[in-house]
Amino acid sequence: MTARIIDGKHIAAELRGKVTDAVHRMLRDRGLVPGLAVVLVGQNPASEVYVRNKSKAVTEAGMRPHDHHLPASTSEAALLELVAKLNADPAVNGILVQLPLPEQIDAQKVIAAIDPAKDVDGFHPVNAGKLASGLPALVPCTPLGCIMLAKKVHASLAGLEAVVIGRSNIVGKPVAQLLLAENATVTIAHSKTVDLPSVCRRADVLVAAIGKPEMVRRDWIKPGATVIDVGINRVAGEGGKTRIVGDVAAEVSQVAGALTPVPGGVGPMTIACLLANTLRAACMQHGLPAPNIGS
Ligand code: GUN
Repeated sequence: MTARIIDGKHIAAELRGKVTDAVHRMLRDRGLVPGLAVVLVGQNPASEVYVRNKSKAVTEAGMRPHDHHLPASTSEAALLELVAKLNADPAVNGILVQLPLPEQIDAQKVIAAIDPAKDVDGFHPVNAGKLASGLPALVPCTPLGCIMLAKKVHASLAGLEAVVIGRSNIVGKPVAQLLLAENATVTIAHSKTVDLPSVCRRADVLVAAIGKPEMVRRDWIKPGATVIDVGINRVAGEGGKTRIVGDVAAEVSQVAGALTPVPGGVGPMTIACLLANTLRAACMQHGLPAPNIGS
Protein backbone atom coordinates (compact mmCIF):
# COMPACT_ATOMS: atom_id res chain seq x y z
CA MET A 1 0.00 0.00 0.00
CA THR A 2 1.25 3.49 -0.72
CA ALA A 3 0.07 6.63 1.00
CA ARG A 4 -2.56 8.90 -0.45
CA ILE A 5 -0.80 12.03 -1.70
CA ILE A 6 -2.43 15.19 -0.34
CA ASP A 7 -2.54 17.59 -3.28
CA GLY A 8 -1.60 20.91 -1.69
CA LYS A 9 -1.43 22.63 -5.06
CA HIS A 10 -5.04 21.79 -5.82
CA ILE A 11 -6.32 22.61 -2.32
CA ALA A 12 -4.41 25.91 -2.37
CA ALA A 13 -5.86 26.80 -5.77
CA GLU A 14 -9.37 26.24 -4.37
CA LEU A 15 -8.66 28.52 -1.41
CA ARG A 16 -7.12 31.17 -3.66
CA GLY A 17 -10.23 31.02 -5.83
CA LYS A 18 -12.43 31.67 -2.79
CA VAL A 19 -10.23 34.57 -1.67
CA THR A 20 -10.29 36.05 -5.19
CA ASP A 21 -14.11 35.86 -5.32
CA ALA A 22 -14.38 37.56 -1.92
CA VAL A 23 -11.93 40.28 -3.01
CA HIS A 24 -14.01 40.93 -6.12
CA ARG A 25 -17.18 41.19 -4.00
CA MET A 26 -15.43 43.63 -1.67
CA LEU A 27 -14.53 45.86 -4.61
CA ARG A 28 -18.00 45.61 -6.17
CA ASP A 29 -19.95 46.19 -2.94
CA ARG A 30 -17.64 48.52 -0.98
CA GLY A 31 -15.12 49.89 -3.47
CA LEU A 32 -12.29 48.48 -1.34
CA VAL A 33 -9.11 46.69 -2.51
CA PRO A 34 -7.03 44.90 0.18
CA GLY A 35 -3.34 45.80 0.11
CA LEU A 36 -0.37 43.71 1.28
CA ALA A 37 3.07 45.17 1.95
CA VAL A 38 5.92 42.68 1.54
CA VAL A 39 9.27 43.86 2.86
CA LEU A 40 12.50 42.12 1.83
CA VAL A 41 15.85 43.18 3.25
CA GLY A 42 18.94 41.96 1.40
CA GLN A 43 19.37 39.29 -1.26
CA ASN A 44 18.78 35.90 0.34
CA PRO A 45 18.04 33.85 -2.83
CA ALA A 46 15.33 31.69 -1.22
CA SER A 47 13.63 34.80 0.23
CA GLU A 48 13.74 36.51 -3.16
CA VAL A 49 11.84 33.57 -4.69
CA TYR A 50 9.26 33.52 -1.88
CA VAL A 51 8.70 37.27 -2.05
CA ARG A 52 8.29 37.20 -5.84
CA ASN A 53 5.73 34.39 -5.55
CA LYS A 54 3.84 36.22 -2.81
CA SER A 55 3.56 39.46 -4.79
CA LYS A 56 2.41 37.59 -7.89
CA ALA A 57 -0.25 35.75 -5.89
CA VAL A 58 -1.46 39.01 -4.33
CA THR A 59 -1.97 40.54 -7.78
CA GLU A 60 -3.68 37.41 -9.12
CA ALA A 61 -6.14 37.53 -6.20
CA GLY A 62 -7.13 41.09 -7.17
CA MET A 63 -5.33 42.65 -4.22
CA ARG A 64 -2.71 45.38 -4.32
CA PRO A 65 0.96 44.58 -3.64
CA HIS A 66 3.18 47.18 -1.95
CA ASP A 67 6.68 45.78 -2.39
CA HIS A 68 9.70 47.19 -0.54
CA HIS A 69 13.15 45.81 -1.34
CA LEU A 70 15.79 47.30 0.93
CA PRO A 71 19.58 46.81 0.76
CA ALA A 72 21.29 44.26 3.04
CA SER A 73 22.99 47.18 4.85
CA THR A 74 19.63 48.66 6.01
CA SER A 75 19.71 49.71 9.67
CA GLU A 76 17.20 48.52 12.24
CA ALA A 77 16.06 52.14 12.69
CA ALA A 78 15.37 52.51 8.96
CA LEU A 79 13.34 49.29 8.86
CA LEU A 80 11.37 50.33 11.97
CA GLU A 81 10.65 53.65 10.26
CA LEU A 82 9.27 51.84 7.19
CA VAL A 83 7.10 49.61 9.41
CA ALA A 84 5.71 52.72 11.16
CA LYS A 85 4.89 54.23 7.76
CA LEU A 86 3.11 51.04 6.64
CA ASN A 87 1.22 50.83 9.96
CA ALA A 88 -0.12 54.35 9.29
CA ASP A 89 -1.00 53.77 5.62
CA PRO A 90 -4.73 52.96 5.24
CA ALA A 91 -4.09 51.37 1.80
CA VAL A 92 -1.92 48.73 3.49
CA ASN A 93 -4.02 46.11 5.30
CA GLY A 94 -1.29 43.52 5.80
CA ILE A 95 2.44 43.76 6.49
CA LEU A 96 4.90 40.90 5.99
CA VAL A 97 8.58 41.36 6.74
CA GLN A 98 10.37 38.40 5.17
CA LEU A 99 12.62 36.46 7.56
CA PRO A 100 15.49 35.91 8.10
CA LEU A 101 16.71 39.50 8.48
CA PRO A 102 20.37 40.59 8.28
CA GLU A 103 22.24 40.24 11.58
CA GLN A 104 22.29 43.97 12.42
CA ILE A 105 18.48 43.86 12.74
CA ASP A 106 16.66 42.35 15.72
CA ALA A 107 13.77 40.44 14.10
CA GLN A 108 11.74 40.33 17.34
CA LYS A 109 11.88 44.11 17.62
CA VAL A 110 10.63 44.49 14.05
CA ILE A 111 7.83 41.94 14.54
CA ALA A 112 6.74 43.73 17.72
CA ALA A 113 6.61 47.05 15.82
CA ILE A 114 4.01 45.77 13.32
CA ASP A 115 0.41 46.75 14.09
CA PRO A 116 -1.12 43.43 15.33
CA ALA A 117 -4.19 44.14 13.17
CA LYS A 118 -1.93 44.14 10.06
CA ASP A 119 0.27 41.23 11.20
CA VAL A 120 -0.69 38.74 8.44
CA ASP A 121 2.21 36.47 9.47
CA GLY A 122 0.64 36.13 12.94
CA PHE A 123 4.09 36.48 14.53
CA HIS A 124 3.35 39.47 16.81
CA PRO A 125 3.28 38.51 20.51
CA VAL A 126 -0.31 39.81 20.72
CA ASN A 127 -1.44 37.39 17.99
CA ALA A 128 0.68 34.53 19.38
CA GLY A 129 -0.86 35.19 22.81
CA LYS A 130 -4.39 35.32 21.42
CA LEU A 131 -3.84 32.00 19.61
CA ALA A 132 -2.54 30.41 22.82
CA SER A 133 -5.55 31.83 24.72
CA GLY A 134 -8.08 30.55 22.19
CA LEU A 135 -9.07 34.06 21.09
CA PRO A 136 -9.65 35.12 17.46
CA ALA A 137 -6.28 36.11 15.98
CA LEU A 138 -4.30 36.41 12.80
CA VAL A 139 -2.66 32.97 12.69
CA PRO A 140 0.67 32.08 11.00
CA CYS A 141 0.15 30.98 7.40
CA THR A 142 2.16 27.75 7.22
CA PRO A 143 0.50 26.28 10.35
CA LEU A 144 -2.94 27.24 9.01
CA GLY A 145 -2.10 25.45 5.77
CA CYS A 146 -0.95 22.33 7.66
CA ILE A 147 -4.25 22.11 9.55
CA MET A 148 -6.29 22.59 6.39
CA LEU A 149 -4.36 19.73 4.73
CA ALA A 150 -4.75 17.44 7.77
CA LYS A 151 -8.49 18.18 7.78
CA LYS A 152 -8.76 17.05 4.16
CA VAL A 153 -7.90 13.58 5.52
CA HIS A 154 -9.62 13.71 8.94
CA ALA A 155 -12.94 15.56 9.12
CA SER A 156 -12.19 15.91 12.85
CA LEU A 157 -8.81 15.84 14.59
CA ALA A 158 -10.46 15.47 18.02
CA GLY A 159 -8.81 12.81 20.16
CA LEU A 160 -6.08 12.01 17.62
CA GLU A 161 -2.45 11.79 18.74
CA ALA A 162 -0.59 14.61 17.01
CA VAL A 163 3.19 14.93 17.14
CA VAL A 164 4.91 18.09 15.92
CA ILE A 165 8.67 17.90 15.33
CA GLY A 166 10.08 21.43 15.70
CA ARG A 167 9.35 24.26 18.12
CA SER A 168 9.92 27.41 16.05
CA ASN A 169 7.68 30.45 16.46
CA ILE A 170 6.95 30.29 12.72
CA VAL A 171 5.70 26.70 12.51
CA GLY A 172 6.17 24.31 15.46
CA LYS A 173 4.58 26.28 18.30
CA PRO A 174 1.63 27.73 16.36
CA VAL A 175 0.80 24.46 14.58
CA ALA A 176 0.77 22.76 18.00
CA GLN A 177 -1.66 25.42 19.28
CA LEU A 178 -3.93 24.91 16.28
CA LEU A 179 -3.89 21.13 16.74
CA LEU A 180 -4.79 21.65 20.39
CA ALA A 181 -7.63 23.96 19.36
CA GLU A 182 -8.86 21.06 17.17
CA ASN A 183 -8.85 18.87 20.31
CA ALA A 184 -5.92 16.67 19.26
CA THR A 185 -3.58 15.29 21.94
CA VAL A 186 -0.42 17.21 21.12
CA THR A 187 3.25 16.45 21.68
CA ILE A 188 5.94 18.92 20.63
CA ALA A 189 9.21 17.09 19.93
CA HIS A 190 12.51 18.82 19.19
CA SER A 191 16.28 18.35 18.95
CA LYS A 192 16.58 17.40 22.63
CA THR A 193 13.75 14.86 22.56
CA VAL A 194 14.90 11.42 23.73
CA ASP A 195 14.12 8.60 21.27
CA LEU A 196 12.41 10.76 18.66
CA PRO A 197 11.45 7.76 16.45
CA SER A 198 9.32 6.19 19.21
CA VAL A 199 7.66 9.52 20.03
CA CYS A 200 6.78 9.89 16.34
CA ARG A 201 5.44 6.33 16.16
CA ARG A 202 2.62 7.41 18.52
CA ALA A 203 1.33 9.92 15.98
CA ASP A 204 -1.91 9.62 14.03
CA VAL A 205 -0.92 13.01 12.61
CA LEU A 206 2.78 13.84 12.30
CA VAL A 207 3.91 17.35 11.39
CA ALA A 208 7.60 17.53 10.44
CA ALA A 209 9.00 21.05 10.68
CA ILE A 210 12.66 20.37 11.35
CA GLY A 211 14.61 21.74 8.40
CA LYS A 212 16.71 18.58 7.97
CA PRO A 213 16.46 16.81 4.60
CA GLU A 214 14.68 13.43 4.68
CA MET A 215 15.26 12.95 8.41
CA VAL A 216 11.94 11.21 9.13
CA ARG A 217 12.23 7.53 8.11
CA ARG A 218 9.65 4.84 7.46
CA ASP A 219 10.18 3.10 10.84
CA TRP A 220 9.19 6.38 12.62
CA ILE A 221 5.67 6.13 11.24
CA LYS A 222 2.60 4.44 12.69
CA PRO A 223 0.97 2.50 9.82
CA GLY A 224 -1.79 4.58 8.26
CA ALA A 225 -0.69 7.88 9.86
CA THR A 226 -1.14 11.26 8.17
CA VAL A 227 2.21 12.95 7.59
CA ILE A 228 2.49 16.69 6.93
CA ASP A 229 5.96 17.59 5.62
CA VAL A 230 6.80 21.27 6.16
CA GLY A 231 10.43 20.94 5.04
CA ILE A 232 11.84 22.81 2.05
CA ASN A 233 15.48 21.73 1.84
CA ARG A 234 17.82 22.31 -1.07
CA VAL A 235 20.16 19.37 -1.63
CA ALA A 236 22.67 18.54 -4.36
CA GLY A 237 21.02 16.45 -7.05
CA GLU A 238 22.30 14.77 -10.19
CA GLY A 239 24.49 16.71 -12.60
CA GLY A 240 25.30 19.45 -10.07
CA LYS A 241 21.66 20.62 -9.98
CA THR A 242 19.92 21.39 -6.69
CA ARG A 243 16.81 19.47 -5.77
CA ILE A 244 14.13 20.37 -3.22
CA VAL A 245 13.33 17.69 -0.64
CA GLY A 246 11.23 17.69 2.50
CA ASP A 247 11.99 16.65 6.08
CA VAL A 248 10.40 13.26 5.33
CA ALA A 249 12.07 10.48 3.33
CA ALA A 250 10.20 9.17 0.26
CA GLU A 251 10.10 5.65 1.80
CA VAL A 252 7.56 6.96 4.35
CA SER A 253 4.87 6.70 1.66
CA GLN A 254 5.11 2.88 2.05
CA VAL A 255 3.77 3.11 5.63
CA ALA A 256 1.80 6.36 5.97
CA GLY A 257 -1.90 6.58 5.13
CA ALA A 258 -1.59 10.08 3.67
CA LEU A 259 1.40 12.29 2.92
CA THR A 260 1.99 15.82 1.66
CA PRO A 261 4.48 15.98 -1.23
CA VAL A 262 7.45 18.37 -1.43
CA PRO A 263 7.12 20.44 -3.52
CA GLY A 264 3.37 20.81 -3.97
CA GLY A 265 2.16 20.18 -0.43
CA VAL A 266 2.44 22.70 2.38
CA GLY A 267 4.30 25.34 0.28
CA PRO A 268 1.38 26.40 -1.93
CA MET A 269 -0.92 26.45 1.13
CA THR A 270 1.30 29.00 2.86
CA ILE A 271 0.76 31.54 0.09
CA ALA A 272 -2.97 30.81 -0.15
CA CYS A 273 -3.31 31.32 3.63
CA LEU A 274 -1.34 34.58 3.39
CA LEU A 275 -3.94 35.84 0.90
CA ALA A 276 -6.75 34.66 3.19
CA ASN A 277 -5.13 36.45 6.15
CA THR A 278 -4.74 39.66 4.15
CA LEU A 279 -8.41 39.59 3.18
CA ARG A 280 -9.33 38.87 6.80
CA ALA A 281 -7.17 41.75 8.06
CA ALA A 282 -8.76 44.11 5.51
CA CYS A 283 -12.27 43.06 6.61
CA MET A 284 -11.40 43.58 10.30
CA GLN A 285 -9.93 47.01 9.59
CA HIS A 286 -13.06 48.07 7.70
CA GLY A 287 -15.42 46.71 10.37
CA LEU A 288 -16.73 43.99 8.03
CA PRO A 289 -17.52 40.42 9.12
CA ALA A 290 -14.74 37.87 8.67
CA PRO A 291 -14.95 36.22 5.25
CA ASN A 292 -16.26 32.66 5.30
CA ILE A 293 -13.57 30.99 3.23
CA GLY A 294 -12.63 28.06 5.42
CA SER A 295 -9.64 29.37 7.33
N1 GUN B 1 10.53 33.02 6.30
C1 GUN B 1 10.20 31.71 6.21
N2 GUN B 1 8.87 31.54 6.36
C2 GUN B 1 8.36 32.77 6.55
C3 GUN B 1 7.02 33.23 6.76
O1 GUN B 1 6.05 32.48 6.82
N3 GUN B 1 6.89 34.57 6.91
C4 GUN B 1 7.96 35.41 6.87
N4 GUN B 1 7.72 36.71 7.05
N5 GUN B 1 9.19 35.02 6.67
C5 GUN B 1 9.39 33.70 6.52
